[in-house]
Amino acid sequence: MTLNPKLTNLLNEQINNEMSSSYVYLAMAGWFERTPYAGFAQWMFAQSREETMHALKFYQYLVDRDATVELQPIAQPKMDYASPMDAFQHSLMQEEKVTQQINDLYEVAEQVKDHASKNLLLWFLNEQMEEEKTVRDMLDRLKLAGEDPASLLVLDREAGSRPSGGGGRGKPGGPGGA
Ligand SMILES: [Fe+2]
Ligand SMILES: [Fe+2]
Repeated sequence: MTLNPKLTNLLNEQINNEMSSSYVYLAMAGWFERTPYAGFAQWMFAQSREETMHALKFYQYLVDRDATVELQPIAQPKMDYASPMDAFQHSLMQEEKVTQQINDLYEVAEQVKDHASKNLLLWFLNEQMEEEKTVRDMLDRLKLAGEDPASLLVLDREAGSRPSGGGGRGKPGGPGGA
């Protein structure tokens, strides 16, 4: 079944959205690297890799559906943040935006009755729910920690214990993901 042209365009756009997300998280990782929070830097770096994997998943889907891949430029991400909480707040906004994008994509897939695409997008909707929850949980605890350095360092250490990314539920493992 030929992929609907509108859906093809939107899936190509989503490759760009995921790569942009990856770039945003990489910028956050870079910012955290210049702070004492090595754990948050590692968390953001892992998240950047996850987003790249998402882009590649959309890429592979277009290839598998015999559709044309069309890559667009990636915008420069915001490089400076006021605090760990500021970075995670932006992260939540970013994830909510992506959830909306995928929700819209699902709607188009439904309109053109493309059930394979719906299946792919359903996986992404679940993934978004998880990512929003993870970021929201971290934000809640950052709010509790406030300006207290000891509490912030506990959260930082916890963030740093996250697996280095690329792996996870139903995802292809990244190279050297151990
Ligand atoms: Fe993503
Ligand atoms: Fe994400």
